[in-house]
Amino acid sequence: EKVVLAYSGGLDTTAIIPWLKENFDYEVICVCVDCGQEEELDGLEERAKACGASKLYIENVIDEFCDEYVVPCVQANAVYENKYLLGTSMARPLIAKKLVEIARKEGATAICHGATGKGNDQIRFELGIKALAPDIRIIAAWRNDKWTMDSRESEIEYCKAHGIHLPFSADSSYSRDRNIWHISHEGLELENPANEPNYEHLLVLGVTPEKAPEEGEYVTMTFEKGVPVSVNGKAMKVSDIIRTLNEMGGRHGIGIIDIVENRVVGMKSRGVYETPGGTILMEAHQQLEELILDRDTYALKKEMGSRFASLVYEGKWFTPLRLAEQAFIEETQKYVTGEVKFRLYKGNIIKAGTTSPYSLYNESIASFTTGDLYDHHDAEGFINLFGLSCKVRAMKMQEQGEN
Ligand code: ARG
Ligand code: SIN
Repeated sequence: EKVVLAYSGGLDTTAIIPWLKENFDYEVICVCVDCGQEEELDGLEERAKACGASKLYIENVIDEFCDEYVVPCVQANAVYENKYLLGTSMARPLIAKKLVEIARKEGATAICHGATGKGNDQIRFELGIKALAPDIRIIAAWRNDKWTMDSRESEIEYCKAHGIHLPFSADSSYSRDRNIWHISHEGLELENPANEPNYEHLLVLGVTPEKAPEEGEYVTMTFEKGVPVSVNGKAMKVSDIIRTLNEMGGRHGIGIIDIVENRVVGMKSRGVYETPGGTILMEAHQQLEELILDRDTYALKKEMGSRFASLVYEGKWFTPLRLAEQAFIEETQKYVTGEVKFRLYKGNIIKAGTTSPYSLYNESIASFTTGDLYDHHDAEGFINLFGLSCKVRAMKMQEQGEN
């Protein structure tokens, strides 16, 4: 029988290969789903095979990730607990989908992953797998009774004992997850919220605002129906837009957050996230919506976006609710077309002008100085009715001698 292993090439998932063979007698098919982790993928096949895997698939899903997973989250302005742009969360369902596809193709009966029993990722992988392939057995190595390793040292030892010599060091490092949208950092000094993050040691995609150039830099972005289509006048596919904005944002110290978040399993966890391009892109999208959406739609969409963020965080991607929420959000994007200009400066995104053919902003109505479309006198009757219930109640209170 065959098992498909979600393989990153790192120490944890590498140690799982001999462990699976020893304890389950499976043929191990490794699958590395590339959402833009920019890791050295060369040599991965040799490593997987040297450890006993019979095959390695490397699936480049960057464009699918950007178009089908990132864009809906941008359109929703999906931000978890006011700060986290969901970089890891949005990739997990796509990884689950690819694991299932390959499991089907290979006739595998099980899927194995290396997420711990404390985290969110186990939930996201497993909800995805359950929703797409309810018959497939899930093996969560770290939660399995037969799993005995609990440190990098013990994983390296285990591999050595199985004749596998790996180029990994036992040194502790951050627990990281990277893709084209973001990189997350957890562990080490971050585990105590009293500690300041060691940014020098930690940052991968950019610099701190202190190290950013003294000169700001302008960037313009255009959107069509809520989809980003160009940067600085150059039409690009979404993945290239994100790459371009990552570089600019990283250079200017944008999109670094430090958060204590509530994990689904109930614990609080501290993490630092770098989302340089994503932060710019989401801010730009929001900027356009400010001009374009009417007040009622804007209000409900904001709520829906927050619901969508929780749903994505919780790994409920392959559900009817996600489709329904996304349909609502998509409907609101029909006229989200236009151009946004920002100046990036030392960690700040400074607005430098927004235009849209569908802008509802009407200068002759809004201006303090001009306009005949708006008659101040209309407001009086409006307020009389709008405030009627306040007035009726106050009169009653007065009559009863209450305040
Ligand atoms: N806390 C974040 C989330 O739940 C990031 C998780 C990072 N995962 C990892 N395997 N390092 O989405
Ligand atoms: C893990 O525990 O595997 C990583 C962190 C998380 O899933 O939240």
